[in-house]
Amino acid sequence: MIQNIFADALMAAIPDLPEDQIRAGIEIPKEKTMGDFAFPCFRLAKAFRKAPAMIAPEIAEKLKDNPLFEKVEAVGPYVNVFIDKEHWAQSVIRDFMEADQYGSGTEGIREDGTRKNIVLDYSSINVAKPFHIGHLRTTVIGNSIKKLHEFLGYNTISVNHLGDWGTQFGKMAVAYQKWGDPETVDARGVRGLMDLYVRFHEEAKKDPSLDDEARAAFTRMENNDEEILSLWQRFVDISLKEVSRVYDLLDVQFDSYNGESFYRDKMDAPIALLREKGLLKESEGAQVVDLSEFNMPPCLVLKSDGSSIYATRDIAAAIYRKNTYDFAKCLYVTATEQILHFSQVFKVLELMGFEWAKDLVHIPYGYVSLEEGKLSTREGNVIFLEDLLNEAIAKTRDIMNEKNPDLENLEEVAQQVGVGAVVFHDLFNNRIKDVTFSWDNVLNFDGETGPYVQYTFARCSSVLRKAGEMEEQVPDASKLTDEYAQEIIKLIEDFPNRVREAAKKYEPYIISRYTVAVATAYNKFYHENSILNADDPETRYARLYLTKMVAYILKTGLSLIGVKAPERM
Ligand code: ARG
Repeated sequence: MIQNIFADALMAAIPDLPEDQIRAGIEIPKEKTMGDFAFPCFRLAKAFRKAPAMIAPEIAEKLKDNPLFEKVEAVGPYVNVFIDKEHWAQSVIRDFMEADQYGSGTEGIREDGTRKNIVLDYSSINVAKPFHIGHLRTTVIGNSIKKLHEFLGYNTISVNHLGDWGTQFGKMAVAYQKWGDPETVDARGVRGLMDLYVRFHEEAKKDPSLDDEARAAFTRMENNDEEILSLWQRFVDISLKEVSRVYDLLDVQFDSYNGESFYRDKMDAPIALLREKGLLKESEGAQVVDLSEFNMPPCLVLKSDGSSIYATRDIAAAIYRKNTYDFAKCLYVTATEQILHFSQVFKVLELMGFEWAKDLVHIPYGYVSLEEGKLSTREGNVIFLEDLLNEAIAKTRDIMNEKNPDLENLEEVAQQVGVGAVVFHDLFNNRIKDVTFSWDNVLNFDGETGPYVQYTFARCSSVLRKAGEMEEQVPDASKLTDEYAQEIIKLIEDFPNRVREAAKKYEPYIISRYTVAVATAYNKFYHENSILNADDPETRYARLYLTKMVAYILKTGLSLIGVKAPERM
């Protein structure tokens, strides 16, 4: 990192100031014209017994002759430096060449070479409910966080904690037995199951005894009644079959589909432990953990009829995951409405004495709405994600047919760009922010979009293709000192930091925005400089090498947010 040069020089110039204070003190000036880095001298006033504005010129004087600095200035209490451009480019190129996979890391690898495990619970769909665009967020955010951690050396275990247990399945079973037609349900899939669910509620309004039947059916499920469980299994299979088509489009995979039903026989031990620790209290017939001390409502563990609930299964699931995967962290990606649920569950686990409860992290995200109006299941205007993705592909196909009708694998590219556009759009903002989905924003090839970044990658690929085979050599950094090349160099230098920041904050948008910045910088460079027709072979090679680095950064950056990078489009 180039900043080290400045830190080293400062350490030599101010030997009395500890290294960490020097490093922490370095700033990046807001105005580029002020310099690449700045060091404020306020903290030195006491030791030097001088005003900061008097100290700055002294330090500047000591740094002045360092050939790695193009210019050193004292401005008021600040020492500002401009790094030598050639040196800067050289240092970034060296880092890039030396790395196996530039930007990746070893944070996830222990000294003995073993990898730390990260469990990621995301997507976690509800069986027999639509996979709508709201669920897209947990899926793509989770997938990106997974890729970011893998890039940093962690071993990841992605879990689809299926919502496949609960009284609603008793209702489904009753409805299916009464009115279900296997052929219609097979043909209509989840829509067919939803029809039955709606019908159940309509009929139950007229005939409340249906609710009793449903409860009885669920009790049979809980008692492992084979007949009813085979019905339930059908619902699960129908849902999984449908959702797997979406996962294929998104290229998302899971290591485990252990959902809520998986824990139905794993709750006795945790409940016994809760009892033993005196944590369970009776409240209106139900068993709860009192959390008033922590300013939270009580966590319901057992309903008055003795049945478990969502939270009980999450308690059991966390323990199972710790025992099975010995995770360094276990992450849960859901909408903000579950913030309280996870705070309660994590707190209960902590009270149970599990030291690792501190390693459980909830990653909430905001809502998605369609431009036309809010998405809602109740109003019946649900947009199925699969339809939305297929529409994105169709729209992209139309655009491609106009722009580049001769493209060989047009269908494949339309899929990568169409789906990529939707994913990119979803990951473009701080995840807590609500998102409004509008086609114009999603598919704009010139805006801050997936297609724009993909298009820039295809541009780089085209330049490199036209250049033909190149013998790998160290490019001449003195040819990359123009303003446009320098802008790219600085962005490339920042890639490893951005990856770490995105992983640490669980924020894919840091990467998506970064790829837009790199693409924009490259497009400016491309328009301002001749690459293939550069004046001399050294300049040509240096610019091609820069193009190669940009291509790598864009492709890797996109892959970290789960978006493909076609070479032609
Ligand atoms: N199925 C739930 C939903 O769609 C999300 C489950 C999240 N994971 C968990 N372990 N609770 O709202």
